[in-house]
Amino acid sequence: MKIVITGGAGFIGSHVVRRFVTKYPTYQIINLDKLTYAGNLENLKDIEHYDNYRFVKGDIVDQAFLETLFSEEKFDAVIHLAAESHVDRSISNPLEFVMTNVVGTVNLLNAFKKHRTNEKGFFYHVSTDEVYGELTDEGKFLETTPYSPNSPYSASKASSDHFVRAYHETYDLPVKISNCSNNYGSHHFPEKLIPLFINNIKNKKPLPVYGKGENVRDWLFVEDHASAIDVIFHKGAFGETYNIGGNNEWTNIALVKLLCKLMDQKLGRPEGDAVKLITYVTDRAGHDYRYAIDSTKLMTKLGWRPSLQFAEGLSKTIDWYLANEDWLNNVTSGAYTEYYKEQYENR
Ligand code: NAD
Ligand code: DAU
Repeated sequence: MKIVITGGAGFIGSHVVRRFVTKYPTYQIINLDKLTYAGNLENLKDIEHYDNYRFVKGDIVDQAFLETLFSEEKFDAVIHLAAESHVDRSISNPLEFVMTNVVGTVNLLNAFKKHRTNEKGFFYHVSTDEVYGELTDEGKFLETTPYSPNSPYSASKASSDHFVRAYHETYDLPVKISNCSNNYGSHHFPEKLIPLFINNIKNKKPLPVYGKGENVRDWLFVEDHASAIDVIFHKGAFGETYNIGGNNEWTNIALVKLLCKLMDQKLGRPEGDAVKLITYVTDRAGHDYRYAIDSTKLMTKLGWRPSLQFAEGLSKTIDWYLANEDWLNNVTSGAYTEYYKEQYENR
């Protein structure tokens, strides 16, 4: 089976590529990635020599490029992760999110539909729980929760989900969709809360908590997201959506305090050192209050279970960042400095 995984050089994509390449030696895995600021081939150094792995640099917005690639390769399946993924960047530049997340997804659907030769081949779209909007203190997102996206990022992901569903209904294209909660783990770009704060604590820089830090997120270890994608890829039904979550809700401030405590221990600093870096800053515009996922369908129908408790996953994650200083230094040089200034300097 020949599978193209888009966005395979990014955070989640690299974990999915690694899992498929190492676990399924008879599959040919092609990683299609534009290598934006978030894409990094260093993330895949350990598997790049595998015979069943190949990297192709390309932009999913580029129709002509996709036409050539898909007509030559005749992929059996697509696992689509390529996206602009950061909410704060979507507030500054919504159009880039429309281009990659909406136009890019439709381009991929068209290329796959046109050149697909395997009747059993399908398009697996990886999406987010943010499409459902925000929750109050009650309830969880179900697969049937109406879409109500609030940020340009989630609006673009919601639109891409709708196109994938529409291609199933209109053209009978076999598709699967999953909507996942917040991931954490190794190789996470330090613009997102957990890796940003790990890097800042390490460098004794302020920890910019948006608003009062009372917003709630449901955190899942990235390798558990990759295992869910594996299960849905192999056992999920066509035309179905599966929610993926960690059943692991934290207010941002409680999470940041736990992170501070673990970092102090691991860095051999006095208890209470990192917590002094917490700085409350202007809230994110349109900041969703709470996300929480109900994964009952995935667990009961397909038998998926997350493997790790949060404290263990967070500890492993911190260890990875502390052991991979070069990775962190490389991705926080150059354009990152400008991004950081724009986002945080006068906040
Ligand atoms: P990421 O930003 O770390 O990686 C995105 C990857 O896509 C990068 O390698 C980038 O180079 C590539 N890319 C971007 N634009 C491209 C284009 N035009 N053509 C080809 N490649 C392009 O993102 P992530 O956090 O790994 O998220 C991956 C997917 O999972 C996204 O679709 C995201 O919406 C979804 N998701 C993420 C989370 C999360 O917590 N991070 C949770 C649920 C769903
Ligand atoms: O829910 C899934 C989504 O999770 C994914 O679809 C997105 O791609 C991913 O980026 C993530 O979105 P969030 O906006 O929830 O993640 P982020 O790490 O940016 O922020 C987590 C929480 O922390 C959120 O409430 C905002 C807050 N925050 C974030 C940053 C970067 C801060 O308080 N300070 C910060 O500097």
